[in-house]
Amino acid sequence: MLQGMYEKFESLFDVKAEVGAFAPGRINLIGEHTDYNGGYVFPAAIELGTYGLASQRTDRTICLYSNNFEDIGIVSFTLDELVYNDQHDWANYPKGVVKYLNEQFDNIDHGFNILIEGNIPNGASLSSSASIELLTGWLIKRLFNLELERLQLIKLGQVVENKFMGVNSGIMDQFIIGMGKAEHALLLDTATLDFEYVPAKFGDYVISIMNTNKRRSLTESKYNERRSECEMALSQLQQKLEVDSLGELSLTEFDTYKSLISDDVIRRRAKHAISENERTKLAHKALTENDFEQFGELLNASHKSLKDDYEVTGIELDTLAETAQQVDGVLGARMTGAGFAGCAIALVDKQRIQRLEDEVSKAYIEKIGYAPSFYHVGISDGVKSL
Ligand code: GLA
Repeated sequence: MLQGMYEKFESLFDVKAEVGAFAPGRINLIGEHTDYNGGYVFPAAIELGTYGLASQRTDRTICLYSNNFEDIGIVSFTLDELVYNDQHDWANYPKGVVKYLNEQFDNIDHGFNILIEGNIPNGASLSSSASIELLTGWLIKRLFNLELERLQLIKLGQVVENKFMGVNSGIMDQFIIGMGKAEHALLLDTATLDFEYVPAKFGDYVISIMNTNKRRSLTESKYNERRSECEMALSQLQQKLEVDSLGELSLTEFDTYKSLISDDVIRRRAKHAISENERTKLAHKALTENDFEQFGELLNASHKSLKDDYEVTGIELDTLAETAQQVDGVLGARMTGAGFAGCAIALVDKQRIQRLEDEVSKAYIEKIGYAPSFYHVGISDGVKSL
């Protein structure tokens, strides 16, 4: 892919690319919708990701092109017009990154060209947007020699998502894309940002990624709705409890105080966040002890909680995960990412991958009417120069 990109870059912009970078996508093993509740998450960066090339310009124009959105063509704007624009579509992500970097660093005083191409399926909950954010930040860091730490870039990516794109997401996606390590998952405490790399070795088992191939819709508004429901739950619990986040509570404590939450739906949202946080800590323990069966059971329990208490699955994700859970040789399966559509993961015996794909495809086509896709990819480093 890269060779073709260098040629395309020259033909688009009439200059050679000066710097190149790669930013991965991610899966989340477990710890879903816990990152904006001060809880733990357990993601891993994947080898599917976004490649980018860049060169400086002498004027103040920024030209962006994506091989994935050829019909949109070159999107251009100047350093003086860094505002969200619906028509700029995908390019709003890099634009947001430019805006906040530009506010932080005086030496970004001329424009640049960027060409990107990614192999993360779009809208599949594998974080193609955070991948573009971190990639753009990394390319600009290289072009302008910015003194920008990974953690700053991660936080900046989250600001783009929250303030520029209007999605009140947590920090998980940017964090794993910025800090990922090949062959490792990362356990992150989102309350403190302390983290630990854990070898992602599953013995005879591998993670299979299963894509619903359902395009996400309304995800952003539902996502923001869940987040405010958790905030509401927290503020009601705070009538009696001195806590800053749901992540500080154990399930036992929650059971004692849950009657403070008047609404049943809101109570279930909190129950998910708190139980999922406990499952994530247990899953970390299980993985470090090579207890893959226990790990698999926690994946199943996570899916059930996301389905019944958090209500972010939907028939497509349920069909994938619940069918996979029944396949011989599968230890566990669950949706991954924000939910509503996108992907699920399954922990499957290496010898049974084909069987998983056949059985899940059959059930999925029967129920949903079109086929799912499957990916088997390695675990990658975080954003890096090429
Ligand atoms: C999206 C968000 C993350 C996280 C997950 C759910 O991927 O960007 O911050 O909240 O959903 O776990």
